[in-house]
Amino acid sequence: MFEDLLRAWDGEHAVVRYDAPSGAWIFACLHSTALGPAGGGTRMRVYPTPADGLADALRLSAAMTQKMAAAGVERGGGKAVLAVPALPEGEARRTLLHRYGELVTSLGGSFRTAGDMNISPADLDVVAERCPWVYGTTGRGGDSGRGTARGVLHGIRAAVEHVFGSPDLAGRTVLVQGLGAVGAPLARALAEDGAEVLVTDVDEARVAASGLEGVSAADALGAECDIYAPCAVGGTLSAETIPLLRCRIVAGSANNQLAAPEDADRLHERGILYAPDYVVNAGGVVQLIGLEDEGWDETELERGLARIGDSLRELLAEAAAEGITPVAAAERLVARRLADAGA
Ligand code: NAI
Repeated sequence: MFEDLLRAWDGEHAVVRYDAPSGAWIFACLHSTALGPAGGGTRMRVYPTPADGLADALRLSAAMTQKMAAAGVERGGGKAVLAVPALPEGEARRTLLHRYGELVTSLGGSFRTAGDMNISPADLDVVAERCPWVYGTTGRGGDSGRGTARGVLHGIRAAVEHVFGSPDLAGRTVLVQGLGAVGAPLARALAEDGAEVLVTDVDEARVAASGLEGVSAADALGAECDIYAPCAVGGTLSAETIPLLRCRIVAGSANNQLAAPEDADRLHERGILYAPDYVVNAGGVVQLIGLEDEGWDETELERGLARIGDSLRELLAEAAAEGITPVAAAERLVARRLADAGA
């Protein structure tokens, strides 16, 4: 299985290590360094098989190349996965994170990482005890969820402007799916902007805590709204779900929202504007690089995040002018930036 996955991947470098003390498989995948050192989060997860963990890391690293190129930052794409037999705690977690940090250090800065699923800023503090190439620790860039949420908000405003002629969210109905690190602050910000916010989460307590109008997770995709913002899991847009949608726009943070590439055409044919996930969810990267490398203050950060809305606006105009999908326009932009870098 590993052989097939690696052979089919178009990336540069994949490091595979079996960590005997924990039973974890560690995969650090550097998809592209054409625009700069490969950047991407570290995900810790229990997978059915180690090959599923490798497949996740390979796929996500390629998506990071697209995200970095579309955001115009001087970074390539990478991703790391710690495929663990069970989520470790206490000392076992610390020592695994230390060994992982040593592995990343051995890559000499060609891979730089931050948090992802099950890796918190506090975990990154532990990795940073052994590795200088860590972003999003508690003392520095912090939780990237807030920057991601803010970037999605700018993306939603740009998409609303494209479809309705004004970025004003007052009176627009937005369904936020997933009230985690991104969805919760996004839902709050949308409500502050005057939008009617519907929320859904498999964790009912999060819906109750939001104080916003809840929709059951099972019925969420059929809810009538102007904007559907997927902020939970990937793959929610598919041949089965697209016919159910009753929205005009899809714009949210979840990675890999399209179950298959053809789903971009299915959305287009239904007259639903899809804001490519990797274009609108780059706010976390912008936040961490801006605060940690560029020394930005909060005003500069907000300007950087607003640029996500500007690039989406340009992309949507280009797609409309040429009669192509926003995904096709985004892919063209990424290809242009990589070609300019000689990739
Ligand atoms: P999180 O783990 O903090 O929150 C996810 C939320 O979704 C949880 O409240 C969970 O209960 C809920 N959920 C899970 N499955 C669901 C389902 N089927 N239906 C409804 N709710 C469900 O995750 P976070 O950080 O908020 O990220 C959300 C998405 O955005 C993920 O796909 C992530 O990969 C993506 N993303 C996050 C970034 C970040 O900076 N945190 C950056 C870029 C992408």
